[in-house]
Amino acid sequence: MKFEVPSLPYEKTALAPYISEKTLELHYEKHHKGYMKKLKDAIADTDDANKPLEDIVLQAEGDLFNNAAQVWNHSFYWRSMKPNGGGSPTDELKAAIERDFGDVKHFHDQFAAAAKGEFGSGWAWLIMQRDGHLAVISSSDAENPLRSGHTPLLTLDVWEHAYYVDYYNERGDYVQAFLEHLVNWDFAMENFLASR
Ligand SMILES: [Fe+2]
Repeated sequence: MKFEVPSLPYEKTALAPYISEKTLELHYEKHHKGYMKKLKDAIADTDDANKPLEDIVLQAEGDLFNNAAQVWNHSFYWRSMKPNGGGSPTDELKAAIERDFGDVKHFHDQFAAAAKGEFGSGWAWLIMQRDGHLAVISSSDAENPLRSGHTPLLTLDVWEHAYYVDYYNERGDYVQAFLEHLVNWDFAMENFLASR
């Protein structure tokens, strides 16, 4: 595997005022790169050093899983957002959202409920299940839907380190800002089309 986290797909100022430069600086430079450092240290001189990251996420347990999955999850999270995001999906993804949630508003409601309802640290996800239907789930700590055979389309980090600097304890305001102003439907569409 490649031993560096991917570059952020935008400048650290690009998601303000919804996510500040300070949050992205800490979150990307300290947390994301911190998980990568621990992962690199753990797999150095082992067979895992030559495996793709996704294989480690699928196979590892304990701290090795936690650090590998947190590297994967954060890379996926950065791409789940973009400056001037939000709005609605288009084309086939819009049709699938309407089929499985009723409309975009109901998707927002379910996603917000999952993101706010996750007790403690974790993630909220839009996934495609094995049967092709879309669903919203949350996961605890580093847990990743790939382990259950789902295809992730979008994710939101709901660890406190993702929002506390900007929103203090108001996780709901952060979730609303993500849905209304940041969510990257183009990325979700890419994942949706690739999974079929
Ligand atoms: Fe995080």
